[in-house]
Amino acid sequence: MYAVAIDGPAGSGKSTIAKLLAKELNISYVDTGAMYRAIALKAKEENLDTEEKLKNELENIKIDFQDNNIFLDEKDISDEIRTEEISKLSSKISKYPFVREKLVLIQQDIAKKKPVVMEGRDIGTVVLKDADYKFYLTASIDSRAMRRYKQNLEKGIDISLEDIKAEIIQRDDNDKNREHSPLKQASDAILIDNSDLSLRDNVDKMLSVIRGE
Ligand code: DC
Repeated sequence: MYAVAIDGPAGSGKSTIAKLLAKELNISYVDTGAMYRAIALKAKEENLDTEEKLKNELENIKIDFQDNNIFLDEKDISDEIRTEEISKLSSKISKYPFVREKLVLIQQDIAKKKPVVMEGRDIGTVVLKDADYKFYLTASIDSRAMRRYKQNLEKGIDISLEDIKAEIIQRDDNDKNREHSPLKQASDAILIDNSDLSLRDNVDKMLSVIRGE
C-alpha cells in the first residue's frame, strides 16, 4: 500500500488540495465525501427517510468511480451531489455505523489496489491507519465560509455568508461529535492551518514533507 491520508472539516480545501497533490504524485485521488453524498442522494430520491429503510436498501446501492467522476447505479451524479441539501443529508446519514462500515470497506479495497491520495474525515484515524503520510487540514470558520461563498457565487448560487457560516458550524458540530468515527486529527497526522495559505503553498508544504525536503 502507498497512501496519503487527508482529513479535515468542510471548506478546509481538502478536495482541491488532494486533487492537486495526487496529480503531482501521479497517483489516484479518492474523495470519500462523495460516497457519503451518493448514499444521501439515493436516500433522497427513494424516500429512505428512516434508519431502517436506508439499512434495508444499502446493499443494493452501487457506487463506482471512473476517473474523478462518481456513479450511483451506473449514473454519473458528480454534479447532483454538490447541493446544500445533499451536504446536510450526507452529514446526517454519515453517523449511521452500517453506512460507515460499507463505505470504509470499499475505501480500503480501493487503497489495496493502487496508490492513492484519499481525503475525508476518518481516513487517518480509521480507513487507512497505516497510511504513509497523514495530513489534517483546517482553517478558521470565517475563511472556510468565505471560500464556500465564493464557490457558490461562481456557480450562480446565492446564499448569504451568514447562512453558509451557520451551516458550516452545524456540520462541524455533527461531524466532530458523532459517536462513530468522529472527525479528529490522527495522533500521527501533520496539522496544516491554511487560513492564510494559498492552495499552491499548501500543496508545496505537503510535497516537501512527502519528498523529505
Ligand atoms: O467532504 P464532504 O463535505 O463532501 O463530505 C460530506 C459529508 O460526508 C460530511 O459532512 C461528513 C461525511 N463524511 C464522513 O463522515 N466521512 C468521510 N470520510 C467523508 C465524509
